[in-house]
Amino acid sequence: MPLHIIEQYSPADRRISKRMLYDRGRRLLELLDCSDQMFSLVLLDDHSMADFNRRYRNINRPTNVLSFPVTDDGDAFPGQPPELGDILISVDTALKEAVEAKTSLHFRLTELVIHGLLHLLGYDHERSEKEAQAMWDKEKDLMQQLCTSKRPFRRKTMPHLAINIDHVATIRQARGITQPDPVLAAGICELAGAEGIVVHLREDRRHIQDRDILLLRQTIKSKMNLEMAAVKEIIGIALDIKPDMITLVPEKRKELTTEGGLDVIKNEKKLAKTIARMKKASIPVSLFIDPDAAQIEAAADIGATFVELHTGRYCDATTEQEREKEFRLIEQSAELAFESGLRVNAGHGLDYLTTARIAALPTIEELSIGHAVISRAIFVGLDQAVREMMAIVRP
Ligand code: PXP
Repeated sequence: MPLHIIEQYSPADRRISKRMLYDRGRRLLELLDCSDQMFSLVLLDDHSMADFNRRYRNINRPTNVLSFPVTDDGDAFPGQPPELGDILISVDTALKEAVEAKTSLHFRLTELVIHGLLHLLGYDHERSEKEAQAMWDKEKDLMQQLCTSKRPFRRKTMPHLAINIDHVATIRQARGITQPDPVLAAGICELAGAEGIVVHLREDRRHIQDRDILLLRQTIKSKMNLEMAAVKEIIGIALDIKPDMITLVPEKRKELTTEGGLDVIKNEKKLAKTIARMKKASIPVSLFIDPDAAQIEAAADIGATFVELHTGRYCDATTEQEREKEFRLIEQSAELAFESGLRVNAGHGLDYLTTARIAALPTIEELSIGHAVISRAIFVGLDQAVREMMAIVRP
């Protein structure tokens, strides 16, 4: 491995994809003609970075990146390529800088790795203006080469709004009669501008019924997204009716609504098998996951087309600080998923106050919103409730 990563920050939010850093580190060494060498990347928090800055530069505050070239001509351990040195990066500072520059954490980390690596190779922006320009040009050139094979970082279209109509069926089931009919609700949502209809066919059939699914398949004009657990019976139904896409969710009989995201890592085999079966039937699969780098990596590994990022913790936050933290996590996770080649949706708990910020994230394609819209519809009508949400999603 040409890059050795040491994590000395508290990765409580697990925002960082080590795989992406390994890939980019390896590619950078190739671009710099140093494939036969290696370097160490130490990820720190601001506190530890300030210690290093104090000890080695006499500066009593954190910084974003420090480089320490090897001083002994790179004596390698037996079997290891020679070391260029260590690059220390403060994840706290990198994240702040990413937010300020409106870029992703991984993009900023990549910039800092490039900067650190050039220092290890003898570039120095402090010696003279000429050398600073040379280093800056090289950084730009490397970043461009590194990113040419990637898709652009931003989506081109406006986000879509898909309405989850489960709660219309919940009201119907409360009486066990035929009204209100979710099939009619789907039509009204579409007439009001919704670009997708989401229904969750639960194993316990607490709201949406098999009959709804069959009729909706025939009547939905936009896009039918069938939310479901990866279980035999429902997989069979999905393969029969062929929705436009499915979203796999964890399902517990006692929960009021889907509680957390899928544990893709733990259920990798089962989910990969379901994805493969759906792919054979040309049905794209989305995995509903928490905004977590490891889950995103696992989703990409097993061939999911989409992930739907769980926005519940962001919506349920009770303080501004907590909400901000959860929002940043979704923002960074959406960027990471996008950069990993996944298409990105989001949903759960979004309402007329919390949706705008999520809809403005440039990597998110579609929002799945149910409870807030159906609740508002009781007072203002379904058409109006959908139109009002559309105005937020596409201002
Ligand atoms: N996305 C998923 C995966 C869900 O399970 C749900 C709830 O059914 C939603 C989105 C919509 O959540 P809400 O009804 O809170 O808008």
